[in-house]
Amino acid sequence: MASEQLSGRWSLNGMTTLVTGGTRGIGHFIVEELAGFGATVYTCSRNQKELNERLQEWGAEGFKVYGSTCDKASRTEREELIKNVSSTFDGKLNLLVRGCGLTTWILGKLCSAKFVTVCLYGYT
Ligand SMILES: NC(=O)c1ccc[n+]([C@@H]2O[C@H](COP(=O)([O-])OP(=O)(O)OC[C@H]3O[C@@H](n4cnc5c(N)ncnc54)[C@H](OP(=O)(O)O)[C@@H]3O)[C@@H](O)[C@H]2O)c1
Repeated sequence: MASEQLSGRWSLNGMTTLVTGGTRGIGHFIVEELAGFGATVYTCSRNQKELNERLQEWGAEGFKVYGSTCDKASRTEREELIKNVSSTFDGKLNLLVRGCGLTTWILGKLCSAKFVTVCLYGYT
């Protein structure tokens, strides 16, 4: 449970995070870690079925995770993602983890003063 994971460590309660490419691999791990610390997470990937499965699993764990499909190669889909994230987080984003890569300029409009970017190198 999220509360057990928080015990003895630190809290990210109230923090908003976007983890691109969160359905598999290191992005998936990071979604679970951040949500386990109490952050609200938004994630994306291209495969709707896999994304829905992950969202269901995270919901069952008590994690606050939202998501929608987005192909980072599509500007239209990137802009749709930003709209969704902005709407979900009321325009405030504390942390961006670029699991599958996304250009940062499009995210600038979401950022709060405490915005931090973590880039997992490999994708551009
Ligand atoms: N795994 C590691 O130990 C490790 C260590 C250091 C750095 N990294 C870096 O971390 C990044 C992720 O690696 P990984 O091994 O976790 O990769 P992965 O297992 O292939 O996961 C990639 C994630 O990104 C999504 N994705 C891929 N292409 C996408 C696209 N065009 N648009 C939107 N989402 C996309 C995938 O979902 P869909 O396919 O459904 O879109 C999936 O959720 C890479 O840059 C890698 O170089 C990984």
